[in-house]
Formats: sequence, C-alpha cells, structure tokens
Amino acid sequence: MLTLSDYQEVIKNHFENINLDKQPKNLYEPISYILSLGGKRIRPVLTLMAADIFDGNYKEALSAAVAVEVFHNFSLVHDDIMDDAPLRRGKKTVHEKWDLNTGILSGDAMLILAYQYFEVYEPSIFQALAKLFSKTALEVCEGQQYDVDFETKDDVSIPSYLKMIEYKTAVLLGAAMKMGAIIAKTSEENCNLIYDFGLNLGIAFQIQDDYLDAFGDPETFGKQVGGDIIENKKTYLYLKAKEFSSPDQQKQLSHLFSIQPTDNTEKIEAVKSIFDESGAKEATKKAIETYTFKAFETLESMSISEEKKDLLKNFGKMLMGRNV
Ligand code: IPE
Ligand code: MN
Ligand code: MN
Repeated sequence: MLTLSDYQEVIKNHFENINLDKQPKNLYEPISYILSLGGKRIRPVLTLMAADIFDGNYKEALSAAVAVEVFHNFSLVHDDIMDDAPLRRGKKTVHEKWDLNTGILSGDAMLILAYQYFEVYEPSIFQALAKLFSKTALEVCEGQQYDVDFETKDDVSIPSYLKMIEYKTAVLLGAAMKMGAIIAKTSEENCNLIYDFGLNLGIAFQIQDDYLDAFGDPETFGKQVGGDIIENKKTYLYLKAKEFSSPDQQKQLSHLFSIQPTDNTEKIEAVKSIFDESGAKEATKKAIETYTFKAFETLESMSISEEKKDLLKNFGKMLMGRNV
C-alpha cells in the first residue's frame, strides 16, 4: 500500500505525461487547460486505492483512474456552462476563457476520450468497466437535470435532494472505487461494499460542496463564493433553513430565491445570515459527519485488514477537513 500523497503523486505524474498537443488546437487546448488545473483528483486516487486494497496492482488501475478523472472534468466543463460559473480551481472556466461552443465541444470530446482509456483492458474487465461507466454517466446526467429542475421548484424535499446529489456526484465516487475493485478481480460482495463506501462518502462530499459554496473562503475556495445562492440552488443549507426558520423567514427566503438581481452582494449576505441564524449551517456540518460515518460503517463488513480500513477512514476524514 502507498500513502495518500503517494497516490496523488502517481496521478499527477501520469496526467503530466498525457499528450494533448493535437489539432485542432481550439478543441484540445481547453482540454489540456482544464486537466492541467489539477484539482483534488479525489476520484482517480480512489480508483488506485481500491485496486490496492483488494490486492490488485494499482498500476493496472491507472487507465481507469484517468478515465474517471477525464469524465469528471468533462462534467465540470458542461456544469460550469449550466451554472454560469466564472471560476474553477481559481482560474477562468473554459466557456469564459474561450466561449460557449468551445466548452460544449471540448466537453464532448473529453467524454469520448474517457471511454478510450478503457480500451487497454482485456475483454471481460473492459465489459464490466464500460457497463458500470455507462450506467454511472447516465445517472450523472439524471442528477444534473434534477439539479437544474430544482432551481425553479419551490417544494424540493430532503429525500429528493439526496437522490439528486447521489446521482450528480456520489455515484461517480462509488463507481471510481468499484472500478479499482473490478480490476483487482475481487469478489462481487467486495465490489458492492466498496461502491457503497464511495457512494456515502460522495454524499458527504456534495453536502460539504454546498456548505463551502456559501461559507468557503473566497481567497482559497477556487470557485465563486455564493454561486449556488445566485443560481437559486436548492442545497442542503437552503432546505434545512426552510425547515428550521419562522414563517416570516421562510417567506423571505422563498422571495430571495425567486429574484435575480444584477448585483448579488446583498442577496448572498441576506441568505447566508438566514442559513446561520436558522441553525441550517450547523445542521449541514452534522450531515457531512453523518454520511462520512455511514461510509465508515460499510467497512465493518469488509474482509480487509485494519490497516487498509484505516487508510480509507483517513481519506474520509481528510475530505471532511477540506476547505476547497
Ligand atoms: C457538479 O455539481 C456535478 C457535476 C459536475 C456532475 P455542482 O454544480 O454542485 O458542483 P460545483 O460546485 O460546480 O463544483
Ligand atoms: Mn451544477
Ligand atoms: Mn456547478
């Protein structure tokens, strides 16, 4: 087993060696650009770790790990168009730096590139990976559509929110880990358990994404703080604030989430105050812990060494402590 930073280093080196210096440059440069901004690269690390944990060779999982990360970056390029986001990883988003059409087509190309990374695997592994990948990618689209639909829906419930984030975010973390398990040729039971671990970690991860979107530090966050509030996203913070606040505050919140002012400074401040005063901020922090610990519980029934369980738990704890 390697340490967490070793896996990160392996991924980083691997990405540096991917050659995207191809024509037409307006198609490939944006791909190179977004991939070179790095990010946390959580998903490919999870793929390598899962392969190792089930006694496979993490090097064999590298191609699948790249596929998952390229797919993730594709989804971000299109997501930033959909969310009208100006910043990603502290830099201009692709559609801002180039234009909308460039974002659409470079994104499309990345989705196809992602599939090509599975071609190195033998037929039975290839089939299992491609099948899981297609199912997951479709679920991500479903989650993204719910997310957009909810922007203009006033009665989003917590269960439907949880389904939405499970699809748009958590399934990919689950799949990233299951791919490592498939490559290690472990039992189906282990494959499913590690998927559930990744899924619950992914739910915690997205709730924290919601939290940081409002309460992250603009200096270090790398994205526009308050972006979800501007876009009227029905986040965990919003839903809990609705649940906890007085009828008056509820009305105020509904109103704030129906307007689209040209200057959003006041709207963001007003919404954040309600998030804080209603107790939604605290409840959101709790939910992040709850889902992280739920992920840890799935490890109990897994037949792997304590040392390996600790590695996975440390990863979960590291994510909980993140501020980007
Ligand atoms: C993104 O969700 C999910 C996908 C790209 C599939 P968000 O829109 O909440 O994520 P950020 O905050 O832009 O990273
Ligand atoms: Mn989005
Ligand atoms: Mn977004």
